[in-house]
Amino acid sequence: MVGQAVLVRLIGVRIPASQPQSRSSPNLTSPMNTDLLTDLNEHLRLEFRAAHEYLAMSIWLSAHDLPGFSAWMRQQSTDELGHANRVIEHLLDRDQAVKLPAIPEPPTDWPDAVALVAHVLSNEQEVTASIAALYEAAERAGDRGAQIMLQWFVTEQMEEESSARALLGRLKLAGSTGLGLLLVDQELATGNIPGAPAAPAAQ
Ligand code: FEO
Repeated sequence: MVGQAVLVRLIGVRIPASQPQSRSSPNLTSPMNTDLLTDLNEHLRLEFRAAHEYLAMSIWLSAHDLPGFSAWMRQQSTDELGHANRVIEHLLDRDQAVKLPAIPEPPTDWPDAVALVAHVLSNEQEVTASIAALYEAAERAGDRGAQIMLQWFVTEQMEEESSARALLGRLKLAGSTGLGLLLVDQELATGNIPGAPAAPAAQ
């Protein structure tokens, strides 16, 4: 067998010594657990549905001469698009597939403002349950990145549910017509609901 020193002399080429193989090189773009990926994409449906329905509510409120309430609801719709985008950005940052959902046509009418806000609360409770399930799925998958992303939503959902409950309480006290409703409309024109917590920082 010809040694490497002899080969170098014969052909004038130094053969690089073989490098030790890294046994555990970190894979920063490791695939996401497929169930978690499916569930995150499915969650988008709830956020887009909320955006669509809150926009429809804003239109209904404007048509019922409640500009403060309408503007507040329009902001909720915009916020929901932001929530969907948070999930989309997380998936894109990790080179994961994004599948946008079909959004059902929203309702166009509600019996009164109390029924409208009860609808909001029901939506928010559904989103909270979905976030809790996603967080558990991320824990099961050992996906720390997804857990950190979802932590913001856990805090946000506490605020959103609390705001909807506070608004529902104000409306029930004030009544769904007349001066009481005008008072709530003026409160909402400030962008705040008395007794509701502040939204978490945007980060
Ligand atoms: Fe994004 Fe209000 O749930």
